[in-house]
Amino acid sequence: MTKLSRNYLCWCGSGKKYKHCHLEEDEMLNELEDQGYFAPSRDVFKTEEQIEGIRTSGKLTKHILDMVEERIKAGVSTNEINSWVHEYTIQNGGIPAPLNYEGFTKSVCTSINNVICHGIPNDHEILKDGDIINIDVTTILDGYYSDASRMFIIGNASEKAVKLVNVAKECLYLGIGEVKPYKDMNSIGNVIGDYANKNGFSVVRDLCGHGVGIEFHEEPQVDHYRKNEKGLIMIPGMVFTIEPMINEGSYECNFLDDGWTVVTKDGGLSAQWEHTICVTKDGIEILTD
Ligand code: MF3
Ligand code: CO
Ligand code: CO
Repeated sequence: MTKLSRNYLCWCGSGKKYKHCHLEEDEMLNELEDQGYFAPSRDVFKTEEQIEGIRTSGKLTKHILDMVEERIKAGVSTNEINSWVHEYTIQNGGIPAPLNYEGFTKSVCTSINNVICHGIPNDHEILKDGDIINIDVTTILDGYYSDASRMFIIGNASEKAVKLVNVAKECLYLGIGEVKPYKDMNSIGNVIGDYANKNGFSVVRDLCGHGVGIEFHEEPQVDHYRKNEKGLIMIPGMVFTIEPMINEGSYECNFLDDGWTVVTKDGGLSAQWEHTICVTKDGIEILTD
């Protein structure tokens, strides 16, 4: 990178002089790069206007999950949940992002018990007492994507299942607590991995969080397990998901022939919670809360 003169206009298009805009941040990033960390490419940052769009989309995603929370119960099929999400999204001016996404045929992902993620809603799968289920909603509103998921416990589940669901939620919020400007993104996976392992659980490695907002899946990749290496530096304006998948047994996955459904290899339970977040100047904003 050639060095931009202090008095030139900033590269970001703000119209401000470089010394009054991104100079200080660039110097800090250079220093961190010298220490072995990685700076994200400049095109991963969102503008204020884009973040506002993702925020509005995120509110709808939250309301969709609230709606599901009110209605979900034993006896309901995953296809009924799909219809609720589809109708509610359309009625509120949105588009369900999963529908026709790379061949996915439904408007929401419904992942029960040993299904880690990307379960496809259908008429034969009826929720029963003791099930745990992840509902993963991604909404496009005015062109902006937001992505969030929650677990639901149907009736009375085993103590182990309830613990798994709670630990997975705690993992999400521990990860969120690591988000700060100019900090190593790998610290998210480090705290999540350590906490899951401490509780006797494992963290899925084959699937990750992701940049989101203008597209469904963007750079960067967000890993949820401990990696003892220096990673990407988090910078204000980055928008990405944190969505740890926590397994009761081994972290290994099987990918089913339907092209989507991911299950635990050992048949154990799996739980996941997801938010879309934005790195801000002072820390973090959860955009799907
Ligand atoms: N919402 C999922 C995620 O968190 C992706 C689902 S892709 C789909 O990234 F096609 F299955 F919807
Ligand atoms: Co996601
Ligand atoms: Co999702």
